[in-house]
Amino acid sequence: MSSDLDGGDDDDISPISLILPLEETDINKLSLRRNAVASELLHHFIPSINSNLSIRQLPSQGLSFQLWPAATTLVNLLDDHRSHPQTNPLTPTLTALRQISESPTLKILEIGSGTGLVGIAAAATLGAKVTITDLSHVISNLQLNVEANAGILAANGGCVQVAPLHWGEAIDAELIEQDFDLILASDVVYHDHLYDPLIQTLKGFLLGGGNPKMVFLMAHLRRWKKDSTFFRKARKLFEVEVLHKDPPPPGSRIGVVVYRFAAKQSKKPATGSANQG
Ligand SMILES: C[S@@+](CC[C@H](N)C(=O)[O-])C[C@H]1O[C@@H](n2cnc3c(N)ncnc32)[C@H](O)[C@@H]1O
Repeated sequence: MSSDLDGGDDDDISPISLILPLEETDINKLSLRRNAVASELLHHFIPSINSNLSIRQLPSQGLSFQLWPAATTLVNLLDDHRSHPQTNPLTPTLTALRQISESPTLKILEIGSGTGLVGIAAAATLGAKVTITDLSHVISNLQLNVEANAGILAANGGCVQVAPLHWGEAIDAELIEQDFDLILASDVVYHDHLYDPLIQTLKGFLLGGGNPKMVFLMAHLRRWKKDSTFFRKARKLFEVEVLHKDPPPPGSRIGVVVYRFAAKQSKKPATGSANQG
């Protein structure tokens, strides 16, 4: 299989230097200190809607409370899709989903949302109904970030709700019933003990018998050679295709890659000879 899917040979990648979220040079940082927990307010400008999305980060609280590099890639692609749909790599997927969706409003689920920036940007740029999810302890920060952007969401016809979703656990019936068109995620492949639970959750949504046309778009920055194990497992269940590759940042050989996962097409029976004797 193509090295695009596995990310190629990365013996010389330093997990230590790449596990940390990159410094976001295009984001204004304002440090606040509240209840002894340092928080940072990020203002991420989205040119296509001429608005700043505001996100609270709590770096001292762990990796769920920081913006990761692949999230920025997905946000930039969503923004570019709105202003330059003709050349944007997400357009064929989003156009096809809109054509087959029963509603003009796309229904999107984000998993492992972290700060929620990707889901909030998707709702604002696509005018979509988005559910952002993460582990239970992340929910209150997600909710705060949604509320901070309520005006921009309303002005752009977007709507965001928040729910807990733990990979590998039974999916809440309310989430299943929402019949999503699209699942989004960024930087969710990093610890190998999470590969199977993540795949289990994707299986539940993409192959669970709900919407067979549901698609999963995942932005990923490869840090370890072992990441290829996740892709090997995923390819047994899904069609996995590369939609976009960011150029590597200075000093690195690897940039963020955006993948599209979908249910495998069932093989059509050979026409003609077998039935005709
Ligand atoms: C590396 S962070 C990426 C966060 C965000 N997507 C971003 O790109 O900025 C991985 C996210 O996955 C979430 N996560 C980890 N294990 C999870 C699990 N078992 N179920 C649900 N979410 C999980 C973490 O809480 C965290 O928010």
